[in-house]
Amino acid sequence: MVDIKWDDSLSVNVELIDHQHKELIKRISDISEAVDTNQSPEVIVNTLLFMSEYADFHFSTEERHMKEQNYPAMEHHLKQHEEFKSMVQTMIMDFKEEGATPALGKSINTYLMNWLIDHIKGIDLKFGEFLHSSGFSE
Ligand SMILES: [Fe+2]
Repeated sequence: MVDIKWDDSLSVNVELIDHQHKELIKRISDISEAVDTNQSPEVIVNTLLFMSEYADFHFSTEERHMKEQNYPAMEHHLKQHEEFKSMVQTMIMDFKEEGATPALGKSINTYLMNWLIDHIKGIDLKFGEFLHSSGFSE
């Protein structure tokens, strides 16, 4: 079980983005819980879809602000978003084909949350700083 709670170390100092990150963490925790409580592949796939819908929405929010502010590191940032999206699609396909195998469950539990936390601390924080320095206000 990945039991990660949002805390100030994850704050990008942009309320809208922080709010979306909290929701994403919650939806990833729900997937992990579905895996750990041995839910059927259908249920797990649904939690994955529910999370990926929100991830798409969240990424497009960030990307809109990057474009509006001409963010210099946008290309690299978008690439990471694309990698996450394609990994989630692969997981959904694998679950549909193979069912809820322990290996898949484990990869979900480690990959999704680790990716998000690394992504926030690695490059979303930088983006938040950039937004502030470019005079962005919510
Ligand atoms: Fe991001």
